[in-house]
Amino acid sequence: MKEQLAKIRSEALAAFGQAQSAAELDSLRVQYLGKKGELTAVLKMMGKLSAEERPAMGQLANEVRSALEAAIEAASGKLEAQALEQRLKDEAVDVTIPGREVKLGHKHPMYLALDEIKDIFIGMGFTVLDGPEVELAEYNFDKLNAEEGHPSRDWSDTFYFDEDSRVMLRSQTSPMQVRAMETMELPIRIIAPGRVYRKDEVDATHSPMFHQIEGLVVDKGVTMADLKGTLNAVIKKIYGPASVTRFRPHHFPFTEPSCEVDIQCHKCGGKGCPTCKGEGWIEVLGAGMVHPKVLRNCGIDPDEYSGFAFGMGLERFAMGHFKISDLRLIFENDERFLQQF
Ligand code: DAH
Repeated sequence: MKEQLAKIRSEALAAFGQAQSAAELDSLRVQYLGKKGELTAVLKMMGKLSAEERPAMGQLANEVRSALEAAIEAASGKLEAQALEQRLKDEAVDVTIPGREVKLGHKHPMYLALDEIKDIFIGMGFTVLDGPEVELAEYNFDKLNAEEGHPSRDWSDTFYFDEDSRVMLRSQTSPMQVRAMETMELPIRIIAPGRVYRKDEVDATHSPMFHQIEGLVVDKGVTMADLKGTLNAVIKKIYGPASVTRFRPHHFPFTEPSCEVDIQCHKCGGKGCPTCKGEGWIEVLGAGMVHPKVLRNCGIDPDEYSGFAFGMGLERFAMGHFKISDLRLIFENDERFLQQF
């Protein structure tokens, strides 16, 4: 029995020392010290020994058990330390690596320009409307008095979604006039900025997508004098109190009479220079008195109400405002350009 105990001791200690994991160590513990373990089996035979032999053998067996238990404890401590070390290695964070810079953006220059324009109109009692970019031809054309055959309805100018030319990307913000008149209570005083789409090739002054700001006022007794007074006041706020304007007759299907509004070139004072392309004047918007047919199309009685409307290009305004020479710069989103504003 003595030899048996010594064998168990040396085998067990060697095995414990080589255990690679906590699980392996635990199964070794069961193998030697468990209820059906090897040491337990030897202890069970203790009863068969003589009374003289028993104390010495009992003591030896207890020593072996203590030695095994201590060895398990030590091996387990060693494995835990190894595991911790491995984890620290695996999850190491190099605190010396420089962090990633968080770049804060800011509003696009064109939307900064739009904010200024919105502020001016809001200060004059206008409401700002938002509307759909996918629009019905009925709103973009029919109700605005641009009937079948009008050149702007052509497939070469307009993006349609269907063969019947009923659904389209709006080619102007003017359909917002119709939407406002159909849904709002009178009197109406609105602007509606937003994207519009036309089949134009990209160059320094054209883009298939650009922005317009539509304006509409409908009330009792609105006249051309209100149109001129309002637009002159807005233009003086945008371009400075000394700006000079010119109202030129023009044609739009949805207004009668219609006009285009120019400002005298602020660079040359009207003499003609590269900024105004030698003209002395720069066109800033289209406008007119809302056509009686359009009022009627939207359920408003033209004998009782009248109104004026206007539309301006936002890119052109921003380009003048920030002295941007090429329209493409506005849409290319080159950071070197955008950072300047
Ligand atoms: N929708 C016109 C265009 O895209 C601009 C315009 C002209 C709007 C006169 C108006 C207006 O409201 O009265 O060319």
